[in-house]
Amino acid sequence: MQFTNEELKEKINKLKEKLSVTLVAHFYQRDEVFDVADITGDSLELAIRTRDDDAEFVVFSGVGFMGQSVKVLSPHKRVVMPKAACCAMAKMIDSIYYDESVKFMQDNGISKENILPITYINSNAEVKAQVGEMGGMVCTSSNAKTIITTALKEGKKILFVPDRCLGQNIANQMGLKSCVIGDGTNPSEVDIVCYNGFCSVHQLFTLDDIVFYRKKYPGILIAVHPECDPSICDASDFVGSTSQLIKYITELPEDQKVAVGTEFNMVNRLRDKNTFVLSSTKPECPTMNETTLEDVYLTLKSIDDGEPLNEIFVDAKTQKWAKIALERMLAL
Ligand code: 13P
Ligand code: SF4
Repeated sequence: MQFTNEELKEKINKLKEKLSVTLVAHFYQRDEVFDVADITGDSLELAIRTRDDDAEFVVFSGVGFMGQSVKVLSPHKRVVMPKAACCAMAKMIDSIYYDESVKFMQDNGISKENILPITYINSNAEVKAQVGEMGGMVCTSSNAKTIITTALKEGKKILFVPDRCLGQNIANQMGLKSCVIGDGTNPSEVDIVCYNGFCSVHQLFTLDDIVFYRKKYPGILIAVHPECDPSICDASDFVGSTSQLIKYITELPEDQKVAVGTEFNMVNRLRDKNTFVLSSTKPECPTMNETTLEDVYLTLKSIDDGEPLNEIFVDAKTQKWAKIALERMLAL
């Protein structure tokens, strides 16, 4: 039987009262899923706030690596995901590709002891564990600069996985040299060696879009996420993580127009503030959009029935090292 969103909301709220659950949703979730959540935020805020929450079950509407990070940080919690959706960028690197990236650096004369790996939080727990075991740490788009600044103090070569755009954008901001594995550059000549992963959603924003908006609305500001190509970030007025973008946009004067280069659901929620999506397409994240309100309801019902759907499990060794990599980030 098909329920309306209003009926589903009512059922969800009833189950929330009955069960020891906290509903968590990333900013990119559909509005109706976002609206029923107890905790919302970007990936860093969600990792921190769910760690400090004491419900038995975390019902996480987002993508796989986010639910995994909660489980890694709080192994005693039961984490379930209404949809086991996988971020396309996180899928671009696995343990084998990670090892090959380390080998590429070794083949170019950089010893393993002289490599400090940093993984963007958009990666699976196995990659985070490999990074942790090599003395490295995790970063998010809100703290990447701080993490890289700290890492550089060790005087090692940084291997940054999986997002080449975030790695290059931070390197550009800090006046550092970077390369992308496979672009022909010798890694020993740069400070940051980036893996060749990317977010397909944030590649949708183009220089033509920026030219179009600046011509149509003289004085408009362009604000983008650092997963956009470096050419887009260089041409923008502001580059920031999800939370930083929200803060920047909501603090602008009412009449200031701004075109934003990030996921559609989030920008659409800020629409009342002269805010435009910096694209002629609808840049929705397909995997973030997989979770529906019905999925949230069915997940709560499965907990109530004693057979939770899509529960996240991480093996002990992966959990140990991935936690170390995440905690090194949180300590900063
Ligand atoms: P945030 O770290 O800004 O939440 O970004 C996560 C993400 O997947 C952006 O595409
Ligand atoms: Fe992954 Fe891109 Fe979606 Fe973010 S927007 S979850 S990086 S695919």
